[in-house]
Amino acid sequence: MNLKYEVITEDNISLCRDLCNELMAFQKSKAHITPERFDSMNFETRMVPSVKSAIHNYIVIVKDVEEIVGYVYSNVSPKEAYSNDFATFFDLSTVKKDNVGCLSQFFIKDGYRQFGIGSVLFNMSMEWLRQFNDVEDYFIYVSNGNTEALEFYVSKGFTVSHDILDGFITVLRK
Ligand SMILES: CC(C)(COP(=O)(O)OP(=O)(O)OC[C@H]1O[C@@H](n2cnc3c(N)ncnc32)[C@H](O)[C@@H]1OP(=O)(O)O)[C@@H](O)C(=O)NCCC(=O)NCCS
Repeated sequence: MNLKYEVITEDNISLCRDLCNELMAFQKSKAHITPERFDSMNFETRMVPSVKSAIHNYIVIVKDVEEIVGYVYSNVSPKEAYSNDFATFFDLSTVKKDNVGCLSQFFIKDGYRQFGIGSVLFNMSMEWLRQFNDVEDYFIYVSNGNTEALEFYVSKGFTVSHDILDGFITVLRK
């Protein structure tokens, strides 16, 4: 492996298209509660609108030579963005500040997992999020059935808060 970590700009998010779509398929394959919700989730419906509506975005890709083998996407958004027609992700009254941080999408290709790449990307994301003085609350949303990811985040200091959408998503918080 000859790995390179690159922070990319919002103009280049299409570099994440294939991996984002793989992430949705991966999550569907793990889910046992309403997996069909993933059928309408893809790069165009999830990542593009999220990047547009957030206040700040941070996207890191990992390349093995020229092949993109992983990415992480984090953002800072107004807390109101998390109460919409789809779901209320958390009780807004429990967040004092106006904005929240979120590690929103995370995917390492099969064959590249368990080598510490995810930990590097996770740490880069947390370091980025920590620079915002107006953010005190950090969230990660894990879809049902993805126990490995849930345990990964718990091992990094996040706490399981509650489930939403009848258990479709588990909300983790820090
Ligand atoms: C979740 C995910 C991003 C983690 O990335 P990763 O590169 O596998 O993570 P790491 O290798 O850094 O860490 C995974 C585990 O391996 C261990 N590990 C780290 N380096 C290691 C090494 N060199 N050798 C063996 N194990 C190692 C870590 O301690 C960690 O264990 P922990 O979860 O008990 O802390 C990745 O598995 C993934 O993309 N999964 C599929 C998509 C997914 O579930 N995304 C999350 C959606 S919410």
